[in-house]
Amino acid sequence: MRCYDYCNGSIALASYGTYWRVLRRICTVDMVVLKRINEYKSVRRKCVDQMLAWLDEDARNPHPIDVGRFMYLTMLNMVGNLMLSRDLLDPKSKEGREFFEAMNSLLEWAEQPNVFDAFPRLSWLDLQGVRRRMNRDLGAALRIASSFVRERMEDMNKGVVQNRPKDFLDVLIEFEGDGKEELTKLSEHEINIVVLEHHRVGNDRVTLQSKVHGQGSLAIASTNSFLVPRRAVKDTKFMGYDIPKDTQVFVNAWAIGRDSETWDDANSFKPERFSNSKIEFKGQHYELIPFGAGRRISAGLPLASRMLHLIAGSLLHSYDWELEKFTTRESLDVDRVGVSTRKAEPLQAIPKRRAAN
Ligand code: HEM
Repeated sequence: MRCYDYCNGSIALASYGTYWRVLRRICTVDMVVLKRINEYKSVRRKCVDQMLAWLDEDARNPHPIDVGRFMYLTMLNMVGNLMLSRDLLDPKSKEGREFFEAMNSLLEWAEQPNVFDAFPRLSWLDLQGVRRRMNRDLGAALRIASSFVRERMEDMNKGVVQNRPKDFLDVLIEFEGDGKEELTKLSEHEINIVVLEHHRVGNDRVTLQSKVHGQGSLAIASTNSFLVPRRAVKDTKFMGYDIPKDTQVFVNAWAIGRDSETWDDANSFKPERFSNSKIEFKGQHYELIPFGAGRRISAGLPLASRMLHLIAGSLLHSYDWELEKFTTRESLDVDRVGVSTRKAEPLQAIPKRRAAN
């Protein structure tokens, strides 16, 4: 992610310092603060209604659909509305569609394990072509994100009155440091990267397995195998291991969530295991960390957990789901683990509209 200076503008990849602190504060105070999330309740509802309308269309001629994809599209639309006040999946919007396609390709490349990550000195060879393809699609996605940003900046300069609540893009453009910090304004390029990053973080992590049951609790399975790689800033001793300065550290959240010392029948999807358990996914319990934990925990957790509950709840409330003839529960429990984790077989299910009560 060194191309287009992405790693220097990204919040998730930023080292601990002024830039990260300022961006993190803007994210948590201005975007994913509860008040704002609640203000956007109607937008979330609108996006879910749209998802149900797509499904109704499909359900007229019952056939298996890729459930994860529907959730992904809906999450993308919600993040787009919150950040940019626009429907990225609006069939009438050309840039919206192109942005969506570029994000999809980026997601594909991000999933490809690059064996040269293990041999950083050889990475310049790019024998698998991962970097070349990433460059191409990141470039395309950044160009579109920058056109959204440019359009907004021009409207602001012209004094165009917006008939909508302030969104996250307004906040990023209007940001001015208070003099106590070195950062006074965000550059246009930094804003482009933050916009793009929020669509990535919001969507390459959409849950693949989620199920609301009796008490209304939700089991979240992250599609990330690893948290964002970190670098040791100084020589460190951790759990008896010596970790020299500059070591790159990968945390395998997938393996932690399937540790048989913590979980019975660790590889099976059993949401009921959380019914009488104190273990939650919010970063307080290291046995389950789909959003990470500590200082770098996902800034989108409050938003994502609301979106996922609403999407999964609406899918289950509105439809009865049938598995395809050849799909079994056992085959669904198999994960394909790479940089990110997917079902070996995507969950294909047939929606049948429930009769209105
Ligand atoms: C199911 C949904 C999501 C999951 C499972 C998820 C998970 C994660 C994980 C594992 C990290 C890295 C934590 C680490 O390295 O320790 C992260 C970082 C981040 N996420 Fe999420 N995320 C989700 C949705 C979102 C959404 C919707 C947003 C905002 C729109 C968001 C914003 C961020 C940001 C800004 C970071 C970087 C935080 C930092 O480094 O300070 N995430 N996320």
